[in-house]
Amino acid sequence: DYLREPLRPQYHFSPEINWMNDPNGLVFHDGEYHLFYQYNPAGNSWGHMSWGHAVSADLTHWQHLPLAIPEADGIMAFSGCCVVDHHNSSGFRRGDQPAMVAIYTGHGNGKQVQNLAYSNDNGRTWTKYAGNPVLDIDNPDFRDPKVFWHEATGRWVMVVSLAKEKVVVLYASKNLKDWSELSRFGPAGVAQKSNWECPDLFELPVEGGEGKTLWVLEVDMGSGSVAGGSGGEYFVGHFDGTRFTATQEAKWVDFGRDFYAPVSWSDIPQSDGRRIWIGWFNNWQTCLVPTSPWRSCMSVPRTLSLRKTPGRDDSGGDDSGGYVLVQRPVKELQQLRVHSRSIQTHGATWPPVAVTKPGELTDRVFELETTLKPGTARSVGLRIRTGDDEFTEVGYDREPGAVYVDRRKSGNVAFHQAFAGRHEAPARVLDGEVSLRLLVDRSSIEVFINDGEAVISDRIFPSGQKPTIEVFAGDESAQVTATTLHVLDSIWH
Ligand code: FRU
Repeated sequence: DYLREPLRPQYHFSPEINWMNDPNGLVFHDGEYHLFYQYNPAGNSWGHMSWGHAVSADLTHWQHLPLAIPEADGIMAFSGCCVVDHHNSSGFRRGDQPAMVAIYTGHGNGKQVQNLAYSNDNGRTWTKYAGNPVLDIDNPDFRDPKVFWHEATGRWVMVVSLAKEKVVVLYASKNLKDWSELSRFGPAGVAQKSNWECPDLFELPVEGGEGKTLWVLEVDMGSGSVAGGSGGEYFVGHFDGTRFTATQEAKWVDFGRDFYAPVSWSDIPQSDGRRIWIGWFNNWQTCLVPTSPWRSCMSVPRTLSLRKTPGRDDSGGDDSGGYVLVQRPVKELQQLRVHSRSIQTHGATWPPVAVTKPGELTDRVFELETTLKPGTARSVGLRIRTGDDEFTEVGYDREPGAVYVDRRKSGNVAFHQAFAGRHEAPARVLDGEVSLRLLVDRSSIEVFINDGEAVISDRIFPSGQKPTIEVFAGDESAQVTATTLHVLDSIWH
């Protein structure tokens, strides 16, 4: 019973039992959002990698389905993607429904190759292609293909990683079976020291840009990320059907420690038009989190866009300087708001004062919208998931001008020495204010800053005895204002 498990996410996807890592094969087909994921059917730590499976009609409520693609003959099914083969380019169609085709990395026999599997029944059963592998360059670190249909050139394009070389390779195919190399990108950016994994490449609208779009290439690296351990970076630029060219410096995807290997959904109908992704809510460094009989959850699905901001990268030369990736929780999550109220927080200074009633949040997960007015104070913010000498603090620090999440006293931090910490995201103060949207679940917090301009995603493992929300301000000039609390329902009812 998920409702009784104190650390079980109530509105973030988690496997029923056992270990999970990267999201895989995200695809929308016939009214269903599919979520496949790296899964160990045999235990609660990494191994026997196979594809687990779940579906949702609304990106909020998930239904667990049987294992989709198992490890077989010593070949593990590593990360990859799914597409709907509308034109039957692969010949895998049976009947009139287009086939779903998974393109994934086969790991075994000392190398990594790209394989296909297909489904003719909405992803319920899968057949491995008899002609596997479809791409083999005799390389032990060649993985995580992401494929999309490129309309202008009428062909499939794959981005896939040469992990150790920190290079993304682009391939093209007419039929998903025969691939030829187009170009390479990297090494580049901030992450040149560790493995490159799980690339994604897509076009995004610029907010207020009257139809202007740019391309984003995202890559993840096993270590050395902004908050420590694994994390992602992205490049903004152009894609001409053959080559991706970055036009600005790489930027961090998320400033917390627990957002890895995000990939975006394929085949979301054009009438919807959103680009939505989800990430593994974990960090390889501290991945053995204290939960059982399952381990790991996903972030909430996030809608993506680009926003032009003034800043360091706005050099003025190329007009695509200074774009940031904006992430917002998908609007479907708002259906979980069972009760909303505004919270009066005036006059808060130090020490922090409780602004929720005793018992109001026991067993409850919530969303909080708030505005911080730093004034001249050193810091201003909130504490959530409080307990005896226990809290997770979210605030704004004037020096260095950053929003932070401090989880050093968040509960169980002792399970790994690198877990306790404080993670900062640079934040603009606009008209004297920084706006925050917090999504708090039983063992996680996601902080969306200034309408998604930066995000901090962190797991927390509170003991959860008497959770309240508290506010604080460094001096009388600072304020926490316009605070709305939304108590959220569990998706597992
Ligand atoms: C990323 C990753 C991928 C690989 C998968 C294996 O987290 O290392 O590169 O395909 O996990 O489970």
